[in-house]
Amino acid sequence: MKTDVVIIGGGPSGLLLSQLLNRAGVETVVLERSPRERVLSRIRAGVLEAGTVEMLQKAGAGERMLREGHPHEGCIFSDGDLMVRIDFGALTGKTVMVYGQTEVTADLYAAQDAMGATILHEVAEVAIRDADSDAPFVEFTHDGARKRIDCAYVAGCDGFHGVSRRTIPESVRREYERVYPFGWLGLLSRTPPAHDELIYANSANGFALASMRNPMLSRYYVQVPLSDRVEDWSDDRFWERLKSCLPGEVAETLVTGPSIEKSIAPLRSFVSEPLRWGRLFLVGDAAHIVPPTGAKGLNLAVSDVFYLHQALIDAVRHGETAGIDSYSERALRRIWKAMRFSWSMTMMVHRFDGEDSFAAEMRRATLLHLSQSETARRDLAENYIGLPF
Ligand code: APR
Ligand code: PHB
Repeated sequence: MKTDVVIIGGGPSGLLLSQLLNRAGVETVVLERSPRERVLSRIRAGVLEAGTVEMLQKAGAGERMLREGHPHEGCIFSDGDLMVRIDFGALTGKTVMVYGQTEVTADLYAAQDAMGATILHEVAEVAIRDADSDAPFVEFTHDGARKRIDCAYVAGCDGFHGVSRRTIPESVRREYERVYPFGWLGLLSRTPPAHDELIYANSANGFALASMRNPMLSRYYVQVPLSDRVEDWSDDRFWERLKSCLPGEVAETLVTGPSIEKSIAPLRSFVSEPLRWGRLFLVGDAAHIVPPTGAKGLNLAVSDVFYLHQALIDAVRHGETAGIDSYSERALRRIWKAMRFSWSMTMMVHRFDGEDSFAAEMRRATLLHLSQSETARRDLAENYIGLPF
């Protein structure tokens, strides 16, 4: 087989890149390890930056998001009963869109199907060959046969555990990592949200987040030790902990119910540089991981696609390589700013085991400052809604 760009990974970044390239007349083949149902069954965050909303519309995959998504003008940070509202609208003139990543991925599959895109599922043993030459190719096993695709470029959109990053020689890679000593226990329930905006709660019992998917589907998280397992947490124990972290007036009216999904996610900050090696480009989780505190995971993947899609169109269609030559540097500049924001948010609202009373007072003072300084709120708002591309 032969194509312009082989895309490894059929998650949101691979699909969005493929959709934007196909709309510009660039051919792609997407290779996805899992069956489509499994890709669509992953429960992930659901806050979209203004730039992500625009990119999905540009890809022709934004119609349902605009119809069913919920624009949010603000969010809340709480410390005990102190509630600080960050008014994105007043501070930046922009909003975020609350719309699940699962829905985004489903919309991108529908858009790709409508274009007759080539997406192969349940591929195995993907190997990227000669990426440091002018004639890369990809080998993989599909339908029991070993196959090969020749291409001009390869996009590694295969997440943290994919093959693409590991294809870049260790001698070339520089990796940066911060692992946080706690995880997020998430619970999904068919109950009305605790509040009409997200609440990031800092408390003596640690961090909690009250989020939602729609008026009858809520998503909550509480901070747990990494050693905890989901089985350790009954629904009742979860609701009790959540209530102890939320402001009293919110906890009083919280509607609880049976969980329909419960899972623990570790928190980590990770960056692998460079994002390019010859004709191979890394995108999204294949190159970087953010803790979910800043809701930047999906948005950062879309940011990479913003820089790479135009660069590949210019290279494939017009032989112009300025875009691909500067992709890594341009994308990393925005990645590191989002890394900083996600790290500072994580430090601001989580309790660290063994921390001293000074640390707790620093978090309290940070939130107090947020409540008293419009400048501090504007800084947070600008980062939360998404810095310019
Ligand atoms: N071959 C083919 N496909 C692979 C391989 C492989 N060797 N390894 C992984 N994949 C597939 C996975 O099955 C997954 O569907 O690559 C896809 C990667 O998708 P994501 O992990 O969702 O990564 P990305 O598209 O970059 O999206 C980033 O996802 O994890 C969230 O918080 C993260 O929101 C962020 C977003
Ligand atoms: C979610 O809705 O799952 C969510 C929202 C915001 C975050 C993280 C997760 O920061």
